[in-house]
Amino acid sequence: MEAQALLQAVPQEKGDYWNQYYASREVMKLSAPSQFAAFVAQEAGDAHLIIEVGCGNGRDSLFFARHGFQVVAIDGSSSAIAKCEESRNAQSLSDISFICSTVGSAGFGDALRQARAHSEGPALAYARFFLHAITESEELAFFEGMSAALHEGDRLAVEYRTVRDAAGEKVTAAHYRRFVEPSQVIANAASFGFSVEYEVEGFGFAKYLKDDAYVARTVFRKVAA
Ligand SMILES: C[S@@+](CC[C@H](N)C(=O)[O-])C[C@H]1O[C@@H](n2cnc3c(N)ncnc32)[C@H](O)[C@@H]1O
Repeated sequence: MEAQALLQAVPQEKGDYWNQYYASREVMKLSAPSQFAAFVAQEAGDAHLIIEVGCGNGRDSLFFARHGFQVVAIDGSSSAIAKCEESRNAQSLSDISFICSTVGSAGFGDALRQARAHSEGPALAYARFFLHAITESEELAFFEGMSAALHEGDRLAVEYRTVRDAAGEKVTAAHYRRFVEPSQVIANAASFGFSVEYEVEGFGFAKYLKDDAYVARTVFRKVAA
């Protein structure tokens, strides 16, 4: 498929892409986390529960679990979730569970509530390289679901490719990417009761080989229902 067509792909085509992508990947025995996961682990404060959305092969969720967090990770790709479960078993981790659910589907809100119910204490929700992998209407469903499931005071940490990354070199093959305007993400989140606690943008936060993505990192706090 041509890059331009992929940029306009509908959610079903996106889903097929990710299912095929993860089906062809190895189960992970041990792997380095993303730079963002290392940052979030040390900023997690009193949050013991981490809820990841768009966990992919689970490398960050598995890292959080290895470092003592209770983890529930969600992804819309059934092959990604199958690989995550195999990796959890290979790494003999117990306090981590996976849910296959698609943001924008009817069941997503329930999946998030089910995840949040794992702890009565503070929680931190986490989504890396996810907002640019979904459509804007899915982004609104994401914030709506988060707003309904998270408790006041919980935090939500996101990292995503911004509009300034559109022209940058990419390592992975062309697929649906929506280069995102950070001010729009902040406005969308605010409309669902999230305020910005920390925000930074730039190169160097998510470098992978030739791909030094220009990303935004934002940590939101849920302030209102
Ligand atoms: C770019 S990958 C990021 C994976 C991982 N967070 C990382 O940083 O390596 C995007 C992930 O989002 C998932 N995804 C895409 N659209 C989704 C949706 N609407 N609901 C749930 N997951 C979705 C894909 O299956 C894929 O695992």
